[in-house]
Amino acid sequence: MSDNNKKILVTGGAGYIGSHTAHALAEHGYTPILYDNLSTGCRKLADGFELIEGDIADTNKLAPILARVDAVMHFAAHAYVGESVVNPQKYFQNNVVKGLRFIDAVFNSSVRKFVFSSSCAIYGIPGQLPITEDSPRQPINPYGATKLAFENALNAYSKAYGLRYAALRYFNAAGADPKGRVGEVHDPETHLIPSAFQAIQGKRDAVEILGDDYPTPDGTCVRDYVHVSDLAEAHVSALEYLEKNESLAVNLASGRGHSVKEVFATIEQVCGKNVPVRISTRRPGDPPILVADPTKAKETLGWNAQYSLDEMVSTAWQWARRPNC
Ligand SMILES: NC(=O)c1ccc[n+]([C@@H]2O[C@H](COP(=O)([O-])OP(=O)(O)OC[C@H]3O[C@@H](n4cnc5c(N)ncnc54)[C@H](O)[C@@H]3O)[C@@H](O)[C@H]2O)c1
Repeated sequence: MSDNNKKILVTGGAGYIGSHTAHALAEHGYTPILYDNLSTGCRKLADGFELIEGDIADTNKLAPILARVDAVMHFAAHAYVGESVVNPQKYFQNNVVKGLRFIDAVFNSSVRKFVFSSSCAIYGIPGQLPITEDSPRQPINPYGATKLAFENALNAYSKAYGLRYAALRYFNAAGADPKGRVGEVHDPETHLIPSAFQAIQGKRDAVEILGDDYPTPDGTCVRDYVHVSDLAEAHVSALEYLEKNESLAVNLASGRGHSVKEVFATIEQVCGKNVPVRISTRRPGDPPILVADPTKAKETLGWNAQYSLDEMVSTAWQWARRPNC
């Protein structure tokens, strides 16, 4: 527990990962101030915290808020890979153009600590596994390109103007707050585990397996899942790291790969129900395996993922059975 009562601005705080991080911050003695335009977020996820409705490009609105915080955590972004392919303008506008306005607002304040939600999407199709922070960054979709562009801006600005940042490159976020306070609320839902729950609950006919002919042990894609509460804790560690250290870019992952079929088997075991599945063709650009090397996070932040796939599924299932916002 931190002995301070520092205020932290959390953009995108009414979203999935931002809301979990708000709880982690509060548990460590910080006061999160959530800032969200509610474009994909949900007011109920901000319950218990100060929520200011606003856009990250609204520098006038942000100025007095920045004057009362010690650091920023920047989650606000659009985050659907598929949508970014059909509507890249929406993604570059929000994640880059508006994002840069937000950095300007930060520079015009006295805040110099910046934690950014980056993504494994910046790596594209890895040449070798596991993916380290030094792996080539070659995004294969506009979403990944926006995340890389923002990281590059942070890097250049920090060298030229002095700003400490942590670019946290999350792999596949999953699960929900074990205390049941917050969880995933996305519409449409595209993430694997909540989509499978929707199929179980009859909210969709089936969940799709996008290709079962990959060169993996069971033919389905393998991904590195990390519990959202583990991600939230990493943000607190990153904040503490930036108190004493220079900028950093780091993978946040478990280092373990699970195939789509393995995830469904875990869901069936946890829920005691069959997952209605439809096999369809591969989605262009989906690499067979994405697994990270999480060593740097351990060495720099003292962080490693605590929750298992079983716990990701069971906490998410607990949340999925509650009424949504
Ligand atoms: N969920 C994942 O697996 C994952 C993986 C890698 C990276 N990320 C990144 O993590 C961050 C959070 O993701 P999430 O899954 O919680 O998404 P989310 O959609 O639940 O949360 C994003 C929040 O940002 C808000 N927002 C968007 N644009 C805004 C703007 N212009 N001004 C103010 N608020 C705005 C939305 O209303 C929403 O509440 C995103 O930056 C995403 O790219 C997520």
